[in-house]
Amino acid sequence: DRTLKIAPSILASDFANFGAECAAVEAQGADWIHVDVMDGHFVPNITFGPATCAAIRPHIKTVMDVHLMIAPVDPYIDAFAKAGADILTAHVEAGPHIHRTLQAIRGAGCKAGVALNPGTPAEAVAHLLDLTDLICVMTVNPGFGGQKFIDMTDKVQTLRQMIGDRPIHIEIDGGMDPVTAPLMVRAGADVLVAGSAVFKGGSVSDPAPYGANIRAI
Ligand code: DX5
Ligand code: ZN
Repeated sequence: DRTLKIAPSILASDFANFGAECAAVEAQGADWIHVDVMDGHFVPNITFGPATCAAIRPHIKTVMDVHLMIAPVDPYIDAFAKAGADILTAHVEAGPHIHRTLQAIRGAGCKAGVALNPGTPAEAVAHLLDLTDLICVMTVNPGFGGQKFIDMTDKVQTLRQMIGDRPIHIEIDGGMDPVTAPLMVRAGADVLVAGSAVFKGGSVSDPAPYGANIRAI
């Protein structure tokens, strides 16, 4: 299904109120919920782990899209699968065995995503296409919300050609706003992660801005 999906990142929401934030942004039109897991090792920031994902799960009706910015990945796959992740995305840069990691993610019953940092070429996934349900193209260096967009148009175009008619999503993560998002959609993306651009100006008690922000992207 190539229809455009917006996946708000709860990294930009109220960390003391994830359940209500997820319900609010879903009611306002979010297609998926994007959950950014950071370990302070693969990226220079720490967020949360599988227990938080499990706590969020009952508050979400749609797809829980879990972005693992951790290394190693494999020891934690089962915990995130049990926490209710629908999609588990691992970075190709997170270790020497991404092929094994993607197999393990599918083996745990999740859709398998593979993420590429801005410095990593499209070709890094050339031998992973049959193990992959989603390719996440980072348009910032991972670790923080609210960073400036790094244009990856040529990488997205290359990936769209490599994918051919395989059912693989291309997701863009970082700096998505009403100006940058159309560039990525034109290049071939069908899932857009947006944190600050969705949550700005709203709150659980005044969630209408979330809807307006989603529609503006
Ligand atoms: C960055 C995260 C992103 C981030 C996007 O490391 O993977 O999902 O939340 O935030 P914005 O939309 O604010 O760039
Ligand atoms: Zn992310």
